[in-house]
Amino acid sequence: MSHSRVSRRTFLKTGASALVPLTARAARREGPVVIASANGAACVAEALRQIQEGADALDAVIAGVNLVEADPNDTSVGFGGLPNADGVVQLDSAVMHGPTGRAGGVAALEGVMYPSRVARLVLQRTDHVLLVANGAQAFARMHGFPIENLLTERAREIWVRWRENLSNRDDYLPPHRPEDRNIGEDIRRSYDHWGTIHCSGIDLAGNISSVTTTSGLAFKIPGRVGDSPIIGAGLYCDNDVGAAGSTGRGEANLENLASFLIVERMRQGDSPQDACLYACQRIADHTRLRRLLNDQGEPAFNVSFYALNKAGVVGGARIRGAGGRMAVADAGGTRMVDLAYLYA
Ligand code: GLY
Repeated sequence: MSHSRVSRRTFLKTGASALVPLTARAARREGPVVIASANGAACVAEALRQIQEGADALDAVIAGVNLVEADPNDTSVGFGGLPNADGVVQLDSAVMHGPTGRAGGVAALEGVMYPSRVARLVLQRTDHVLLVANGAQAFARMHGFPIENLLTERAREIWVRWRENLSNRDDYLPPHRPEDRNIGEDIRRSYDHWGTIHCSGIDLAGNISSVTTTSGLAFKIPGRVGDSPIIGAGLYCDNDVGAAGSTGRGEANLENLASFLIVERMRQGDSPQDACLYACQRIADHTRLRRLLNDQGEPAFNVSFYALNKAGVVGGARIRGAGGRMAVADAGGTRMVDLAYLYA
């Protein structure tokens, strides 16, 4: 291997304060709690509101992410999500219900604004766990979901600019207008963009459920499925232990089934944050291809994890960079919590 790695477990950092024993920051909260990725502030507030009115955690977290799925301004999830290389929005989602241990998911689903609701129906109304592509859409249609155009004008324009600027040897002639400057920046961001929303919650009965939903990698090869709809990768939930979910480079997570790993680490006594850091380290240790490493031999990509345990302790971590956050809602209100990280 062209790089060496020293164990970082003694030197793990958080955006809040470096080199502080991690468990010292694990604050236990009584009662319901909901967590989500950083794009989920409204999501956690809505899910907690529904839980406080008596909703099952599964219905509450799905209602929370529905706000983001329907939001045209979030280009990483649902309506308004950036499309695949052919300009088609393909959505992935999965749900897991702690009390029954059941799961449902859909992948490469086109034309349905709320893939998380279809994933719940897979859980409730089939003996299967995962439906994909045309089969998933036919199932959604069977249950009354309208088939809609999910490609917003903004997402279409970003896709066109991406396509036109892919090569200077094809027949597309990028217009290079001054007003394209911002679109170019959008393209740069979106190309690095592995958005998604994960949400997990504990309801009034102490039951835990989870959902992850995404439009996946912008401009992906048509048919590409990320980690989000894969149980154990994009999310995992065990009603006796806790739940975890992810955003970021799905391929790295698929090769490590990190959400399952996090829940198993929590089962063995890790705090949610420690368990998330453990998963980040596992991915880093398994990343050996030079094209995926920076000059320091560290993963050049990011994956973020969010977790809560049965006691209501929450925590998260990502591979790269201070400044990562997660959304948390509980009796104390809604707030953003710093993610720990492996590499600055
Ligand atoms: N984590 C989202 C994806 O890779 O599709």
